[in-house]
Amino acid sequence: MNDIIAEIDRAAAAAESRAASAASGADVEAIRIDYLGRNGLFPALSRRMGEIPAEQRKATGAAFNGGRMKIQAAIDAALERLSAGSAEKDAIDLTLPGRRSAAGRIHPISRMADECAEVFRRMGFVAVDGPEIEDIYHNFDALNTPMDHPSRDPQDTFYFPDGRILRSQTSPVQIRVMETHTPPVRIVAPGRVFRRDTPDATHGMNFHQIEGLYVDKNVSMADLKSVLQRFACEMFGPDVKIRLRPHFFPFTEPSVEYDFSCVVCGGKGCNVCKNSGWIEIAGAGMVDPAVFKAVGYDPEVWSGFAFGLGIERLAMLKHRIPDLRLLYENDIRFLKQF
Ligand code: PHE
Repeated sequence: MNDIIAEIDRAAAAAESRAASAASGADVEAIRIDYLGRNGLFPALSRRMGEIPAEQRKATGAAFNGGRMKIQAAIDAALERLSAGSAEKDAIDLTLPGRRSAAGRIHPISRMADECAEVFRRMGFVAVDGPEIEDIYHNFDALNTPMDHPSRDPQDTFYFPDGRILRSQTSPVQIRVMETHTPPVRIVAPGRVFRRDTPDATHGMNFHQIEGLYVDKNVSMADLKSVLQRFACEMFGPDVKIRLRPHFFPFTEPSVEYDFSCVVCGGKGCNVCKNSGWIEIAGAGMVDPAVFKAVGYDPEVWSGFAFGLGIERLAMLKHRIPDLRLLYENDIRFLKQF
């Protein structure tokens, strides 16, 4: 026994344990380089053979060859183990159950907007789009909104530094359509609108409306009422009644607010309708002659009605959603229910 034999035994044991835990081909190659490579331990030991007294050379040489073979065997075993593992990884286990893929679905707000547009489509209204970034002319001026009307205030409406705004209602689409089309006009315009409200259970900083506009000869309030009644029944069934209450909007005259009899309690009074039996759904009215003048329609020839419905409101009623914010949080557990 001498130093070199002791070192060979230690090296072989260390290399074997490293090979047993090698996790990749690169690990195994590193072992080969450390012990058997040109600058590795074994060539270095073989250069020290000259130090060994003659009578020990035979035993040392045998230990040297034995150690080298042990290390090579450990390397071969590690490579074998690793390649078997990767074949297993690549194999497909046909007995495993399939992975279920989650299907996406249309958001309840988009669904309600589509449903509304579809109901109006059956009454002859064509769905159109308008920009969410508007100018003051289309959102306010052409809609006959007085300069001191509170809705123009930056407290209520989002202004860009260049003076444009995020539209506060879908009514500017009325103007854009009339500017580019001659009457008769029969459109609905669903879309997102923005207001500086503090978010709570029934308010958000943005929400959705669907605007309606009907212009022709001899259009009357009775036409407006029948369209709104038809819409109410299509949405919530034949028993829903509607009621129009006098109101004010700058761009309609006369103006009304439009209520459904409460679809939860049938009009008897409950917490959804705050015991009134009615639920406010929309603003509406006959198009103001000043609006017709702004778009170059002759108010002596043409008459029309317009309405704007709140889409979240309708979706919340239809699905009994108690808090508007649920519609905006994108919680998959909530959205999955629709
Ligand atoms: N634009 C009005 C609002 O946002 C609703 C409305 C639309 C009223 C069309 C009358 C006619 O409150």
